[in-house]
Amino acid sequence: MTVTVQVPATTANLGSGFDAVGVALSWHSFVTLEPCDNLIVEVIGEGEKEIARNENNIAVKTIMELQRRLPKDVTERISKGFRLRLDNRFPITRGLGSSAAVRVGALVAANSLLGEPLSIDQLLKLASELEGHADNVAAALLGGIVVAVPTKEGVTCVRFLPPLDLHIALLIPDFSLKTEKARAVLPVSVTLTDAVFNLGRAALLVASLSTGQIDRLKVAMQDRLHQPYRQSFMPWLTEVFESALNAGALGVHLSGSGPTIAAWCDDKSRAETVAEAMWQSLKGAGVRGFWRVVDLDNQGAKVVQRG
Ligand code: HSE
Repeated sequence: MTVTVQVPATTANLGSGFDAVGVALSWHSFVTLEPCDNLIVEVIGEGEKEIARNENNIAVKTIMELQRRLPKDVTERISKGFRLRLDNRFPITRGLGSSAAVRVGALVAANSLLGEPLSIDQLLKLASELEGHADNVAAALLGGIVVAVPTKEGVTCVRFLPPLDLHIALLIPDFSLKTEKARAVLPVSVTLTDAVFNLGRAALLVASLSTGQIDRLKVAMQDRLHQPYRQSFMPWLTEVFESALNAGALGVHLSGSGPTIAAWCDDKSRAETVAEAMWQSLKGAGVRGFWRVVDLDNQGAKVVQRG
């Protein structure tokens, strides 16, 4: 039996909602899994030259961890090995949740192949533990907009969709930034002033998106907890943010840990204008990249083929 899972790219943080807010995007990769007598890993598309094709592959590690946590008779089907095919359609190490997508895709595929021994909540808990933060994995698994908070018991999560169509202009600079590296520059503690700055804006963010009061997004997406520190990798960040807002974006933020920038709009052609303005600004700073306008994905990871 073979199972193929479609899984969305995700953008996390949305500025103020650091490590808690995630959004699934209409840009998808595919993970295919089938039982096999040994381990075979195939990678096509993004990262095909650099991604490991052995036990060091993130998807392989994820499936092995799933096997370790389940009784042997449940995982018998893949006990000898498995063939894994990663068809990566969106850029990796750019802040678009590629590792979350691979983990979630692998988990959903393996769970389906094994007769669904784990619930969605259990899959979310495992994916979040392996990823180290819940925002991207929750959005990749559930679709839509999520607020996801890991607890000892699991991930406490609310998923919702905004009451209107939103379009996101993504500016994807031509360099990779690993999340570990972008987390290493963050301070261990912050001032109460900065904590309160983000707290109010994160609440405003969720209230704005869930009620459709999107003229509040510019303030709601402001952040003092991670973007100012991460700017050391992206000195042009402020300029690109300004170009997005001047071109009519409702709000703008670093996508996850970057370097991709996400600017929100309520009109598709406006989003294209915003994307072009950000691209020009990046080019002016001497950095190459490309842009793409996406919508929200409201389905999350789903099995698209089983046979
Ligand atoms: N919340 C995570 C971070 C997302 O900002 O480090 C990583 O994509």
